[in-house]
Amino acid sequence: MSLSVKTEGQRRPPDLRLHENAEERLHIFGGRRLRGEIRVSGAKNSAIALMPAALLGDSPSVIENVPRITDVSRYITLLHLLGAEMDCSENTVTIDPQQVTSAALDGEPVRAMRASYYLMGALLGRFHEAHVGMPGGCDLGPRPIDQHLKGFEALGAEVEVQGGLVHLQAKELHGARIYLDVVSVGATINLLLAAARADGQTIIENAAREPEVVDLANFLCAMGAQIRGAGTDTIRIQGVSHLHGAAYSCIPDRIEAGTYMIAAAATKGRLRVSGVIPTHLDPLIAKLREIGVRVEEDGDALLVDGSYPGQHAVDIKTQPYPGFPTDLQQPMTAYLAIVPGTSIITDTIYESRFRHVNELKRMGADIRVQGRTAVVEGVPQLTGAAVTASDLRAGAALLVAGLEAEGETIVDGLIYLDRGYEHFEEKLAAVGAQLQRK
Ligand code: EPU
Repeated sequence: MSLSVKTEGQRRPPDLRLHENAEERLHIFGGRRLRGEIRVSGAKNSAIALMPAALLGDSPSVIENVPRITDVSRYITLLHLLGAEMDCSENTVTIDPQQVTSAALDGEPVRAMRASYYLMGALLGRFHEAHVGMPGGCDLGPRPIDQHLKGFEALGAEVEVQGGLVHLQAKELHGARIYLDVVSVGATINLLLAAARADGQTIIENAAREPEVVDLANFLCAMGAQIRGAGTDTIRIQGVSHLHGAAYSCIPDRIEAGTYMIAAAATKGRLRVSGVIPTHLDPLIAKLREIGVRVEEDGDALLVDGSYPGQHAVDIKTQPYPGFPTDLQQPMTAYLAIVPGTSIITDTIYESRFRHVNELKRMGADIRVQGRTAVVEGVPQLTGAAVTASDLRAGAALLVAGLEAEGETIVDGLIYLDRGYEHFEEKLAAVGAQLQRK
């Protein structure tokens, strides 16, 4: 198959003017209790699913509450390469998909993030063909996409992987019954995108139930799709021939909210984390309460008070939603490192999501990793050190560790934190943290 692959465009995409400098490090002067209020941004993992979904419409969509982070900026570049007209102001992204083509896409913006694979589902759904490079993203052990490809085949696509690109081609896309062998957020989203405009009914069984899946289904329904059951393990999609653009707002980022809640507990602070959907955080709230942290709901805010004595170790096992999220396992490990007793943390989702542990040990943590389990012996205090983030949530773990530690922590690998946390320095500084990028 000979295709010209787009890796950079002629016209420049809208620029979010994010501050990016791979040389910079974050200096955190720890030991300060967080006090005050942090307002949560829109969800990264929703925004980067809604943006490709906009390509399925035949008129512009306006997506609000989009976080200004580098993963969103990369998605803007990808959609621009495909020919979308875009406008970005503050947290609103307008996407006009009318001039979009199914050009082959590869290169840095595809390989730099996982969610680039949603272009497979979106382009297949719209053009019945897609040619997209294999995705990248955080290195958390093997991250196959077999369930995505199996689903595309069931919908009528021929799948070929050649020269690092996934080629999908369908004479026609038809509804199918698809059982996912593993509960996968990415595969569920990709199949929703591909099936929304297919002929007939698609049923996804053993579907992921994450709020971001529901958010995408709601956006597609606002565009005219017919989807029932999102948020349960069986999703039914009645294909429609056309979708139109829609105005929509991303849900709040439950992982960002959870990271700040953990940081509040870890610094023995009192923080109001606002603009959240509290039920999305139920598994974290339950664990924090089990440790001895006070958490109260107040409308769209959660009040976290970590100042009470008597905190004790807990066991945590990550699970697909509504279980404890793997994305909060890493920041939680940083907190449990200073909670008295032995905590046992098992990550059932990813094979190697414990790269933050060696860095925490440099700060004085007592943690042993055995396979997918970390055994954490709480120590009274961490001390600042020079550490390196190896992925986004490892960065979040080191942020929490730096805030709770005594002395100065210098975090390298800021590019990871910038992928997922909007204005995190400003938000944390406003509640009493002392930190500086230099
Ligand atoms: N899996 C397969 N085959 C597939 C797809 C997945 O074996 O075809 C396995 C994965 O290897 C993994 C498990 O299934 O062991 C779950 O993977 P899933 O597909 O649910 O993960 P994902 O869609 O690649 C999203 C988030 C991750 C988050 C996971 C789990 C996005 C862009 N990423 O990844 O977020 O950890 O769901 O909740 O939505 C992050 O934000 O830091 C992050 C890594």
